[in-house]
Amino acid sequence: MEKKHIFIQTFGCQMNVHDSEKIMTLMERSGYESCDDMRKADLIIINTCSIREKAAQKVYSQLGRLKELKREKPGLILGVGGCLAQQWGSKFIERIPFLDLVFGTHNIHMLPELVTRIEKTKAPVVQIEFQESVKSLNIPALSSNGKISAYITIMQGCNNFCSYCVVPYLRGREESRSFREIADEVKSLAHRGVKEITLLGQNVNSYGASNSNGHDFADLLREIDKIGGIERIRFTTSHPKDLSDKLIHCFSETDKLCEHIHLPVQAGSNRILKMMNRCYTIKDYLEKVDKLRAVCPEISITSDIIVGFPGETDRDFQATIDMMKKIRFDGIFSFNYSEREGTDAAKLGDTVSIFVKRERLRLVQSLQEEHTIEKHRAHVGNIVEILVEGMSKNSREDMTGRTRTNKIVNFRGNHELIGKAVHVKITDAYLHSLRGELTEEEVTKC
Ligand code: 5AD
Ligand code: SF4
Repeated sequence: MEKKHIFIQTFGCQMNVHDSEKIMTLMERSGYESCDDMRKADLIIINTCSIREKAAQKVYSQLGRLKELKREKPGLILGVGGCLAQQWGSKFIERIPFLDLVFGTHNIHMLPELVTRIEKTKAPVVQIEFQESVKSLNIPALSSNGKISAYITIMQGCNNFCSYCVVPYLRGREESRSFREIADEVKSLAHRGVKEITLLGQNVNSYGASNSNGHDFADLLREIDKIGGIERIRFTTSHPKDLSDKLIHCFSETDKLCEHIHLPVQAGSNRILKMMNRCYTIKDYLEKVDKLRAVCPEISITSDIIVGFPGETDRDFQATIDMMKKIRFDGIFSFNYSEREGTDAAKLGDTVSIFVKRERLRLVQSLQEEHTIEKHRAHVGNIVEILVEGMSKNSREDMTGRTRTNKIVNFRGNHELIGKAVHVKITDAYLHSLRGELTEEEVTKC
């Protein structure tokens, strides 16, 4: 029998990218084959994100473009999953009547059964009920076959209810996977040639807290550190309030843990942090940064910053700028505040004008560019270890990889180096990457 084809388009975060890999695993088991041309597909899944309004708008315009394809190919099954699907449920089908399937963040494991039902009945299906336990947590991502880097979900959901954020409503409460299962999955990935793993969760450093399985996140890192074949461990995302001293010490004691942490600060004003329900002050955050740098002087620290939260004054915004100058992040993701329905912050109104938000965002981004380039320039002359990921996007003669501190480095080399850890001497620094040359010399910096 001829195989059917599935095409998945993913919007949003790494968590969504990984969910798409799980969807692929499930559908491959049900006889589907992945394809990268949506015109050939029998099943198209759009995996959505709704964390900011802009992300949601992108999904709607993509669905608009698919209308034509659906008309040309009536047998095509078109489904949406992820946070926007969870949020909109059956309203999605009212708005986009040519959709066949809407499935929520807790329903991924049911996908093969839902697709079969649509094939038989030709009727649309909406499945968005939260489950007591998220069954898809344990589905491995087979599509990481042949890759040197893989994601593993270790927990999902969030209990923090930051006032601006929809995630707790759309992903449900925190749930951690079993310690053993995670270790076994890492072993199996290592067996298939994976060298670098990224542990994923909305709040990875509260791993174990809600399931009280006797192990916390630092224990998990130490366990994975012992697994042969794995060379690098990364994780994202962590909440500052859950960054324990025990976890900070892992950066010096756990060999494979890379010297990088993404630690979203969101704002520099204590007043705004309180309104955001972040549960720390800027003093607490600075103390954690100092501790991280004392334990691991080379650590790279990246962050998320929101500008224009309701009621943010010039003075509050200046506190964000002052905090950035004090910390000097290696990189940030920065966002205009966008009101999300149902959140506590939505009750405050969207009081900062788009013009003020834009100007504040511009100031934050240009300051960060100064800091990023300054950090990059400090690398020139260093010998660093790069895990080679593939060919560079810009030149067929160049290879690309990352330092342990998560900086992109391009260098002249050939594809036989893919998957290998090589030493590179940094020669040039740019805003988004570094450039270097292969060397036999010993590493001088992470
Ligand atoms: N508006 C703007 N940015 C947001 N984020 C989450 N919710 C919102 C919102 N409503 C940002 C936060 C978070 C990142 C993933 O997205 O900075 O850390
Ligand atoms: Fe959203 Fe806050 Fe949870 Fe992060 S910690 S997912 S920002 S509620």
